[in-house]
Amino acid sequence: MKILITGCAGFIGYHLTVSLLSKKNKIYGIDNLNNYYSVKLKKDRLKNIEDRAKNNKFFFKFKKIDISDFRKLNIFFQKNKFDVVVNLAAQAGIRFSIKKPSQYLKSNVIGFFNLIDLSKNYKIKNFIYASTSSVYGMKNKMPFKENINTDFPLQFYAATKKSNEVIAHSYSSLFNLPTIGLRFFTVYGPWGRPDMAYFKFTKKIINREFIEVYNYGKHSRDFTYIDDVVNSLKIIIKKGFLNKNRNKDNIPYLIYNLGNNLPLKLKNLIKYLETYLKIKSKKKYLSLQDGDVLDTRSNSKKIIRDYNLKFKIKPKKGLENFVKWFKKYHKIR
Ligand SMILES: NC(=O)c1ccc[n+]([C@@H]2O[C@H](COP(=O)([O-])OP(=O)(O)OC[C@H]3O[C@@H](n4cnc5c(N)ncnc54)[C@H](O)[C@@H]3O)[C@@H](O)[C@H]2O)c1
Repeated sequence: MKILITGCAGFIGYHLTVSLLSKKNKIYGIDNLNNYYSVKLKKDRLKNIEDRAKNNKFFFKFKKIDISDFRKLNIFFQKNKFDVVVNLAAQAGIRFSIKKPSQYLKSNVIGFFNLIDLSKNYKIKNFIYASTSSVYGMKNKMPFKENINTDFPLQFYAATKKSNEVIAHSYSSLFNLPTIGLRFFTVYGPWGRPDMAYFKFTKKIINREFIEVYNYGKHSRDFTYIDDVVNSLKIIIKKGFLNKNRNKDNIPYLIYNLGNNLPLKLKNLIKYLETYLKIKSKKKYLSLQDGDVLDTRSNSKKIIRDYNLKFKIKPKKGLENFVKWFKKYHKIR
């Protein structure tokens, strides 16, 4: 299968690319390697992919392209005739979307449009893309189910992701393009994203700095381990859009939650990190921040049933794996 993975130097894109490298697949990756967080971390991930492909003689081709650049993307699509597109490139992060919304418009709306439009033009078999649990906003009943109203996003980041789902619906409906949107819930693990709380806390605890605990540590997130996300993505890519799951209007459009349904309280996250780091943290308690939601919890029954998935790793084990990786990567004893 010829698979295009956008954002392949990012956290989820990296793990997915590594796990899809094989004799059977031709993997094409693009990323603009922007400096939202450590470019070194992105380049290290990319080097790992390239080394692994080279050592095993697996096909991997990387191109530094910004998905907002339609002309360059078009040339790449024209040359390579992909079967599947997995769009993981995006400007992620909730707080940064308050500071720099234009970046989200460029990558998450224009970039997304370019990819879905080209996927239509080149008759891609399956267009799979990342959405987010943030589309559920604040007032929704938990665990979140896909069919509840998501018309009231609280952050611009969530608004751009919601717009992806709406654009996908129009393309599936107008052009019969099979699209699968995945609402990820707090994905974490080795090679993770330095802007996320579990990563920032780990760094600060090691440096004996104060960690900022929002909402006095009371809120919770549905932590979903990277291997569970990648294994699910692999099955979805392999099986593709299942016609039996077409919606009632017979449009090849699907939206799924992809989360563990095992929420972890912020204060317990800190406890686990302290245990694995063997360091007591110094905490600065703060009120709930602008744009923050209280809790997230996924009802993932639909995707588990349709694709026969399993989520195996609980936060305790997943965070232990993360801390081990963090120490190794940063050469900390
Ligand atoms: N990690 C999570 O908890 C989580 C939760 C919900 C949704 N998501 C979504 O999943 C996807 C992957 O997230 P991630 O955690 O791996 O984030 P990430 O920031 O590590 O990866 C995104 C990658 O896309 C690249 N990128 C950004 N804008 C680009 C552009 N215009 N052109 C080309 N490349 C660009 C970045 O350089 C980065 O390497 C994103 O769409 C994100 O919004 C992630």
